[in-house]
Formats: sequence, structure tokens, C-alpha cells
Amino acid sequence: MDLNNYYYNVFKHKKMEVKDFIINREGLADFYVLAIDENTVPSKSMVVFYNKKMMINRDITNLAITAYNKIYSQKSLIIVDSMAASGVSSIRILKECRNVKKIYINDINPIAIKLIKKNITLNKLDKPKHKIEISRKDANFLLSEIAQDDCFTSEQEKYKPNIISIDPFGTPNRYLNSAFKAIQKVNGLLCVTATDTPVLFGIKQNACLRKYLSKSLHSEYCKEIGARILIYFISRMANINNLGIIPLLTFSYKHFIRIFALTFKNKEIITKFIKNYGYIIHCQYCGYRTTLKNQPLHIFENCPLCNTKDTLDYAGPLWLEEIHDNQFIKEILILNQKIGYKCKNRIDKLLNLALEEINMPVSYYNIHKLSQNLKLPYVPKMHVIQNKIKEKGYKVSRTHFDFLSIKTNMGLNLIKDSLLDLKS
Ligand SMILES: C[S@@+](CC[C@H](N)C(=O)[O-])C[C@H]1O[C@@H](n2cnc3c(N)ncnc32)[C@H](O)[C@@H]1O
Repeated sequence: MDLNNYYYNVFKHKKMEVKDFIINREGLADFYVLAIDENTVPSKSMVVFYNKKMMINRDITNLAITAYNKIYSQKSLIIVDSMAASGVSSIRILKECRNVKKIYINDINPIAIKLIKKNITLNKLDKPKHKIEISRKDANFLLSEIAQDDCFTSEQEKYKPNIISIDPFGTPNRYLNSAFKAIQKVNGLLCVTATDTPVLFGIKQNACLRKYLSKSLHSEYCKEIGARILIYFISRMANINNLGIIPLLTFSYKHFIRIFALTFKNKEIITKFIKNYGYIIHCQYCGYRTTLKNQPLHIFENCPLCNTKDTLDYAGPLWLEEIHDNQFIKEILILNQKIGYKCKNRIDKLLNLALEEINMPVSYYNIHKLSQNLKLPYVPKMHVIQNKIKEKGYKVSRTHFDFLSIKTNMGLNLIKDSLLDLKS
């Protein structure tokens, strides 16, 4: 038995004492974490999970909830924090977001539940009691219960959660079906984190086929491929529940991807949206790439660009439409300036780059890698190559997925020519 497992068993039975805790602060929340976890690398092996590097995720979540509340005029919010760990996210929502009518704070770990209760008291959030429901359940069980309660409640009392957050260790795949059964069918906000990035980014391709029913691909733009596979899978899970999703914001940061998606239930639009699924074809030799939208997968023997045989590979099925909503991101950016979280500047940079990605083609080119391949004596500044591409009449933007990359509708050979032009 490892040390943390030992403490897990100890804490399960013993009363927690002052010396067992360290106090932390994030946003407007004070909260305890376990002293025993202090020097553990954030992982499953902590007695109760807490990762301060995920603060940016919680900041953006609160900004997204507030933006959603405003744009989709949800008068009161019913929120499910299905995997709450220390409860820091829920406490921050309660203290920083308006109009929260009810919040379910759940975790399967019994020690997490003890800590959540302590943290609720610390933040003087115990009253009114009906607003907070703390539970120790499997997330699927809780979500199914919520869905079932809804079937037996009279029309006036019906309340489906408008917001569900899924923040597991690794893949969120097995929680999505019950989340779509529990969530508000029109304009519900699903917030999903995936930390199994080696799976989504093409390092563990068999695991991706198994978990997401899709082939991943390790390439210079694998982060975008991974995010699009995740959106595809979420959308597919919505579809089998007679729902569709519109991605409002998708971001990849350090070891995780977070997606905020809006639900809808119009069958014609759901069918139309199925055309948004497709494939990316990629040449492993020259870096050529193209998309196949709403077409069966067909791979040529030779690359259309370099003509090399058997170098074409593919990723998919995946989501090939927009991964963000313009109005939603703009609202978050305004709120970010007003609220001024610790991560304000990083959020601003990340989301402004995400905003640039709207209306741009799928995939991106790493300018450092291309310059190296072309044996250029230096790497041009991003704005210099962007201006060169614009001068030639093409669209160009940066991307939040990789600060050293650009998105453009210019073909690969012309991008190379533009880089070589800058040399002279
Ligand atoms: C990555 S942590 C969540 C972090 C938390 N949302 C935060 O912001 O600090 C994942 C949590 O999911 C819990 N968990 C794992 N499997 C679960 C399940 N099937 N149902 C509910 N909770 C689960 C773990 O106990 C752990 O606390």
C-alpha cells in the first residue's frame, strides 16, 4: 500500500484536525487542502485532488458561466459539479457567480466529501441549506438520478440543471451520456475537461479508437486534432440523446482540453450538423493536409503535393466546424478585464488567440519548424510572416494551440516560398 493510500484509509475513519490542513486562496474562496498532499505531484495518488495550475481553468469556467448567464438569459442557475474534489470550483462559483439557485457538489471520494463540508463552513456558505446538495456518488449515478427525478416531478417544479461540469482524471467519455440525459435540453451548458492528452494527441492511437471511436494522429497540429476529436465525441453522445451541441469555447492548456458546449434539440439542425463530422488527411512526408467533410474516407495512394507513395495518413472522424463562438468569447474577454483574476493576462492572451481562430481553416503550421526545415538562417517574427501572407491576398491568424504557429488558407508550398522570400 502506498503512503497516500494509507492516509486515505486513516482519514476515512478519523476526525480531521487543524494540523491536517493547509489553507489556500483562489479567487474569492478560502479553502483547505490536505497537508499530506502538499508535496505530491497533482495526480490520482493525492488523498484529495487539488492542482493550483488548474486555477486558470476555474477562472475561465466562472467567466464562461457568467457570460452564459448573460447571453442565454438563464435567470437562475442550477449547476452540477460532478467531480468536485476539494470543492474549490463550486465554492468559487458560489462566491463569484450570480444567480446560482442550486449547486450539486459531488465526488466519489469520501475524504473529498469531508473536505468539501469543511470548506463550505469555512466560507460561511452553509445557509440557506437547500441551495447546496453535497453527495458522495458515482457521477453517472448522480446524473441518472437527476434525470430520473425530472421524469417524476410536476411541470411547475421541473428543474433540470442548466450547467453540468465534468472534470475527471483522464477521459470524460463515460460520463457524457448521463450528462445529456440530465441537462437542460435547450441552451444547457456542458463544461467538459479531458486530461488524457496522449490519447487525443495521437501518441496512444489505439486507446483513442477505443475511447473516442476515432483515429488520432500525432502531427504538428495534434492539439487541434485532439480537441476536434473530443468535440466530435461529445456531439455524437448528444446525438444519441436526440440533442446537438454548439461549441462555445474550446481551449487546450498544458495537459488538458476544456470544452464549453451549448445544447439544442431541433432534429433538422441535428441532422444538418452531422455534416460537420469528417476527416483530416495528412502527408507524413511533406506536411500537406486537407479535410474531407461529409464524405466517405478515401485516401489516395500518392500525396497530391509531394507525390510520395503511401505517406498519407488520416485522423477522424472529428468535428470540422467552428470550435468557438465569437459573441461568447468577446463577452468573456470583457468580463475578464472587469474582474481581474490573477490569471487575467494569460486568459486575455489565450482567448484573443482563440478569437482569431474563428473562420480560419482547420490545422496550423509551426513557423519555427518550417524555418528549420528550410534551413533559414533565422526564424521570422510572427507578425512579419503574417504580413507577407496577407500581402499575397490570403487569410492568416495565430492560434492558441501553439504560440509559434499560424493558420492560413495559403497552401504549404506558398507558405514555404513566403518564408524564403523573407530571407532575401
Ligand atoms: C481532476 S479531479 C477534479 C478536480 C476539481 N474539479 C477541481 O477543480 O479541483 C477528479 C475528481 O473526480 C473524482 N472522481 C473520480 N471518479 C469519479 C466518479 N466516477 N464519480 C464522481 N467522482 C469521481 C475524484 O475523486 C477526483 O476528486
